[in-house]
This record gives sequence, C-alpha cells and structure tokens, in this order.
Amino acid sequence: MPGSNQISAILQQALAAVASSASLKDLEAVDNRYLSRKNGLLTSILKTLKDIPIEERKTFGAAANEARLKLEEAIAQAQEGLRTSKRDSSLDPTLPGISHKIGSIHPITRVIEQICQSFYGMGFTIARGPEIETDYYNFEALNFPPDHPARDMQDTFYVEGGLLLRTHTTPVQVRTLEKSKPPVKIITPGKTFRNEAISTRSYCVFHQVDGFLVDEGVTMADLKGVLVAFCRDFFGEDLKLRFRPSFFPFTEPSAEVDISCFLCGGKGCQLCKYEGWLEILGCGMIDPNVLNNVGYDSEKYTGYAFGMGVERIAMLKYKINDVRLFYENDIRFIRQFR
Ligand code: DAH
Repeated sequence: MPGSNQISAILQQALAAVASSASLKDLEAVDNRYLSRKNGLLTSILKTLKDIPIEERKTFGAAANEARLKLEEAIAQAQEGLRTSKRDSSLDPTLPGISHKIGSIHPITRVIEQICQSFYGMGFTIARGPEIETDYYNFEALNFPPDHPARDMQDTFYVEGGLLLRTHTTPVQVRTLEKSKPPVKIITPGKTFRNEAISTRSYCVFHQVDGFLVDEGVTMADLKGVLVAFCRDFFGEDLKLRFRPSFFPFTEPSAEVDISCFLCGGKGCQLCKYEGWLEILGCGMIDPNVLNNVGYDSEKYTGYAFGMGVERIAMLKYKINDVRLFYENDIRFIRQFR
C-alpha cells in the first residue's frame, strides 16, 4: 500500500529530473512521466486512494495533491528559465536567423579596379609609390619652378623632416622612370592629399590614377588613341572626346580632356551643367626636362602622360553629388555599389 513516504520519494526523483533537464523537450518528458493523466507516476498514485483506509485517505490525498502542485510549479519555472536563458540548447528553427551584415567593396576601390582593368587590356602595368614624398619627387623633378603656386602651404601638407604628403600620383612617374629602361608603360593608382577646404566637391584625401608611356617615337596621336579607348570602355561606346589646351609643368604641350556627356549625349543636362561636356582628366607630352631629370635622352625618347581624379570619375559615373559620402563609410551608401 502506498504511503506518504512513497509520494515524497517520487517527488524528489521528479524534481531531480527537472533540475537536470537541459531543454524544453526534456521537461516535457518529465511532465509526461510523472504527471500524465493516464499513467503518470504521481497521478496514478491518486487512483489508489480507494484502497487506503478511510481515516488515512485525507492526509494521503492532500500530500499527493501538494506534490503534484510542487512538481507542476517546478516544471513551469524551469521552462521559463530555459526560454529566457541563452543556454537553451533546444533548437527552434522557426525563429528568425541572426543575419551577419556583409560589407561590400568601396566604390572608390571598385572604380580604381575598373580603370586599371581597362588599361591592363592596353598593355599597361601597375606601379606604386610612397604617400609621403620628398619635395624633389613631388615637385622639383616634375619641373615645378621653385615659386610655383602649387608648392604653397595652401595646397600641400608638409610633415616633419622636409617631407610632404604627395599632392598627386605623378611623382610615381619619376620614381618608375628612374628605375626602368624604355619602353615603360605604367599606370599608378594611389592616394593623394591636399590641404583644401572640405566641401561637396573637395576633400583633403582623394585618389588619382596617372598613366604614361615613354619610348622612341611616341606622339600625341598615341595619347589620344589610348584615352579615346579608355573613355569609351569606361563610360560608353558612343562618346566623343575634346582636347583643350592647358598647362601642367611636367607636360608640353598639355591638354585637358572632356567627354561628351554620357547621360544626355551632349544635349545638355544637370550632370554636365547644360554644357554637353564633362571634364575628366589632364594629359600631355612629357616635358623633356622631366625625361632629362630621370637620365633619359630626351632627343631620342618621347612620352605621353595623363592623370585623373578617381573621386571625380566615380561621382560622374554614379551621379553622386557629394564627395564626402565616400569617406563617411555609411553602409547604406556603400552597399549600393555591389
Ligand atoms: N598631376 C595632375 C594633377 O594632380 C594631373 C595630371 C595632369 C597628371 C597631366 C599627368 C598629366 O600625368 O600628364 O592635377
């Protein structure tokens, strides 16, 4: 005949099972084993009440009921604990997953890659140089007269030891030519710095890609051919190019290149400010002084060079109206360029 001792033994057993349950599933099993209406170990004890002497029934029944309530409460508590605890190992596949935000390639990196890709196809290879430069490579070797305005503190960040942050990637031209023998056919992507007021159009850090070819018999026609091929590859097959005379200390003659607006086809729109043309790069024939500075015979060798601002080209291509967006690294902006 079952007694109160037996009830408390079953209860202890059941509470231990609750305590060692690691998942909601385990708890459900405990609930079933002890509390199932049909054959739970605790519930079936109540069914034996009728076999118990009448004077003991009351206390026995009360003990059994109390044990049932205790166990129910313990199970409910454990369920709650598991639901809120991170240690809940029960897998609920209906919960939304944890999404890991993947980044994407920065639009500037992407545009540099696209520019380089286009020039690889024409036989150019890449060279890089230091971002901290000497006055010699950034200015002097590039034929900047000592009093040229670009040397002014306004534009150039000077650092300790008479060094400066390069204001363009053109010094890589000098460094590469010094180390090579013609023919040399190179592009030089990289970061550049200017002490300019930050606005929608200019930032103190930006990127350029320069390119150049030095060999015997290189002419302006070669330069035009390469630039037409690049611009059509990069912006669109149908566009026209316009070479306007300009000035750079390191090229003679020098030109600036405009492309017909790829958005309106030259008719005039907001992008080209109703001019029909977009200015995209500077270029020219390498000044003989520069060739002499790197030890080349400028009677024998000639070369062309060009340089473009990556941010400007990216802004035109993707119709971005504020250069600062490139440096804020707002993922919502950057992700649009996937
Ligand atoms: N270095 C010039 C600048 O920063 C751009 C440039 C113009 C580069 C003409 C060249 C070139 O190589 O030939 O404005």
